[in-house]
Amino acid sequence: MGKRGSWASRLGFYLVAIGSACGLGNLWRFPYVVGENGGGAFVLLYVLLVLLLGIPLLVGELMLGKSTGKSILTALGSLSYKGKPIFRVLGRISVLLCLLVLSYYTVISGWVLHFAIQFFISALGVHQASELSTLNILLRNGILQAGLASVHLLFCIVVVLKGVQEGLERFIGWTVPVFGVLVVLLVAKSLSLASAPNAVRFLLYPDFSKLALSSLGQAVGQVLFTLSLGFGTMVTFGSYMTHEHIPTASFRVATIDTIISLVAGLLIFPIALQASNTPLSDSGILFEVLPKFLLEMPGGVIFGFGFFLCLYLASLGASIGLLEVIVSNFVDRSRVDRGRATWLAGFVTLVLAFIPALSGMLMQRLKLGQRGVLESVDSLIINWILPLIALGLCFAITAGMQQKVKEDLFVNMEKVESEVLFSHWQWTLKWFIPSVISLGLFLQVVHAIKLFLEINSH
Ligand code: PHE
Repeated sequence: MGKRGSWASRLGFYLVAIGSACGLGNLWRFPYVVGENGGGAFVLLYVLLVLLLGIPLLVGELMLGKSTGKSILTALGSLSYKGKPIFRVLGRISVLLCLLVLSYYTVISGWVLHFAIQFFISALGVHQASELSTLNILLRNGILQAGLASVHLLFCIVVVLKGVQEGLERFIGWTVPVFGVLVVLLVAKSLSLASAPNAVRFLLYPDFSKLALSSLGQAVGQVLFTLSLGFGTMVTFGSYMTHEHIPTASFRVATIDTIISLVAGLLIFPIALQASNTPLSDSGILFEVLPKFLLEMPGGVIFGFGFFLCLYLASLGASIGLLEVIVSNFVDRSRVDRGRATWLAGFVTLVLAFIPALSGMLMQRLKLGQRGVLESVDSLIINWILPLIALGLCFAITAGMQQKVKEDLFVNMEKVESEVLFSHWQWTLKWFIPSVISLGLFLQVVHAIKLFLEINSH
């Protein structure tokens, strides 16, 4: 595959794909979105959508990458269909989205890094645990936020610079297992808290009356975001694939990612419930209530360090995935070499990240409706733009990829079920996913109108 590189081993692909999928989306976003949408019923909806929407689309993205050997911009541009210019626009929006998401992901990763360092110092006994600075102090210090974001991005740049095998595969190859072990240890501790039974009930008992009109759209968005779909990430990872069977690989990656999300719920809900007495429904709880609570818990400093380290490893893997996508698209489309492309992409991301970092408290205080600016951007991208991109991708894969190419990549003689599943997969991409996404978006519009009318009538 020439200078583009490929995975050294099957395991390499799995580790990097899982490393990219399991990120702040699982550990930070999933719990609070579940909290906002009332718990168990939303979790059930989410799991169903992973199976019926996430996996088929993941198969499609990987196929697009593997069949063309290119990243999303070039891959979509090479499809044979008269609507090609639309596909090109779709590719550009995806890459732009990567840049935007990476920039605010970098700022939040900086917060995580900050708390990990603080807990580490406290664990060493260098300063009093109670001196741990809160999120508010951090938000007021724009320079500190910008510094932390820069350090985080530098880590990502160093890994991406080294290339697919030496960088991504080797580095994420050790972060993912460490992350896995840490999560298991932390969950064991979390489930020993007195609030655990209530938290587990909230997470797993489906009470459908708690679902809101916007829940379907939010579940679609969460599934797409957590599986890194719609950003071209999986197209890039597919382009480095050699002989893995795509549907099997997609099923495994999605299953592990979903397990991690559920485990994250089991880890965070008991603590949030114990600490604040309300099921978590605010994106800030992880950084506000949790650190304070952990400091008062016996052994909480060590737990806190383990927790934020775990969170940091997850956000690092996801950020590296995002940066890799920007770089691989850049390299595919221009004569720029990987090194320069990486530095340039890193620089542009950092400049964008400085906007939320340096605006400090302003972003937090400024509210759009009930949400802060960062949350509103996050919600706009994940609940509205990503589903629209997914719609476009379904169409591109259905109408633009040749039937023979899809069949060859899907059907594997050693896996008899793949032949039967092939037509179901096509049907799902053509009819089911577009219908669910359209319904989700429609209900979100109705929900937004209702909210608007309610606010105006007060
Ligand atoms: N899937 C990651 C998460 O859940 C986010 C991500 C999106 C990473 C797109 C890479 C590409 O946090």
